Amino acid sequence: MTRKIAVVGAGYVGLVTGVALAQLGHYVTCIDVDTTKVDQLNRGELPIYEEGLRELLLANREAGRISFTAHPKRGLRSAEVIYIAVGTPPKEDGSADLRYVESAAYDIASYATQECVVVCKSTVPVGTNEQVLQWIEKEKKEDIKVHIASNPEFLRQGSAVYDTFHPDRIVIGSNSSYAWDVLTEINAPFEAPIVKTDLASAEMIKYAANAFLAMKISFVNEIANLSEKLGANIEDVVSGIGKDQRIGEAFLRPGIGYGGSCFPKDTKALSHLGSDFMERLRLIETTVEVNDMQPSRLIQKAIKRYGDLAGKRMAVLGLSFKPGTDDMREAPSLSIVNGLVDLNAEVVAYDPVAMERAATIFEEGVDFASSVEEALTGADGVFILTEWPVIKNIAPDVYAARMNQPIIFDGRNCYGIEEMKEAKLEYYSIGRPPQFGQLISNPLT
Ligand code: UDX
Repeated sequence: MTRKIAVVGAGYVGLVTGVALAQLGHYVTCIDVDTTKVDQLNRGELPIYEEGLRELLLANREAGRISFTAHPKRGLRSAEVIYIAVGTPPKEDGSADLRYVESAAYDIASYATQECVVVCKSTVPVGTNEQVLQWIEKEKKEDIKVHIASNPEFLRQGSAVYDTFHPDRIVIGSNSSYAWDVLTEINAPFEAPIVKTDLASAEMIKYAANAFLAMKISFVNEIANLSEKLGANIEDVVSGIGKDQRIGEAFLRPGIGYGGSCFPKDTKALSHLGSDFMERLRLIETTVEVNDMQPSRLIQKAIKRYGDLAGKRMAVLGLSFKPGTDDMREAPSLSIVNGLVDLNAEVVAYDPVAMERAATIFEEGVDFASSVEEALTGADGVFILTEWPVIKNIAPDVYAARMNQPIIFDGRNCYGIEEMKEAKLEYYSIGRPPQFGQLISNPLT
């Protein structure tokens, strides 16, 4: 059955959700306070880059199934299903700021014109959906029935469209059988297992999933750090533990820590939520702590190698928190680049898409190169911080040919250590034996 759907918030999640629902044949209106963004979207232009999204947006706009408005009244009129997909940024103390969710709830209360299901996609602390219902109930017209449901989002940046159409599972939390039925029907075409539960459990599932994945990363990083000291190779360790099906090899890539808009924010919010209820979540707290320390470990290696970094020309390859996006939120590159600048190194950075954004973040002491080759030319060392294809495919001899001293600090384990040994390069990575090139002994010990 085709539904009339409103999506409040045309940010990352709202946009992908709206476009996907339109693609399923529903009539979707996305509402956003940002009029510039709304105009842009109505012209078929995307404010973010996401593979495959533009094509879907254009096709559905053409078919008249999706439109954008800055007026909640217009967007919410006669909507049968209303998705809340606004941001929940962290407050200073790490807790989630719910002001945009609250304002969406009051808009729904003021402008919903018929019985509807309000679906929360935003990641919110356990208990928020009950609160959203109360905000709506307080202000809405008496004769309109509102059902509430939590339907958390698990999509990854860079593969958001694929993830939306191929989910591992769909979680629907509600206390209303009407909401369950409507959402089960809407989600049926995705052909994924549906976990039906109550509101609180659905909210908890989202935090627990992100915290668990973040914990896997901090776990592998700790084991990598120790492997390095003991002469073990983390790649073999992961392969050895991951073949145990209870562990699995996925999401155990060691590196300079997780970044992005979800893991850092959600682990801190969960930790905060625990402390609100006198429950210290020690595993989560430590996950955050290990992650905060991880970027500086690469810099420590450079300090050991050079002694003093002042005046050394350091190339930095990759700035975004992961490949496939220009997002710099909580990127490990932030603390590494700032650390190098504080040590008075001359930093020359390159990223295939994030440099424009990075230029607004790094104020002084960072130059930007227009290519990998330019960044490497004359450098005394290189820090690899994001595993973009254009970076991990650099041939080893390019380092030797371009750099003043070919010393590589690889925060993403882009190269095999044998390959670097053969190329006689000095190569320091995460959790693997160092290759010290022409030197006769390991300068880091
Ligand atoms: C993540 C979750 O995967 C998604 O389900 C959730 O809804 C939002 O948060 P995203 O932040 O887009 O998605 O990126 P993801 O690909 O999961 O990577 C997150 C961070 O972890 C990146 O900084 C990445 O470099 C790092 N990472 C990931 C590792 O360091 N090692 C790994 O093995 C995997």
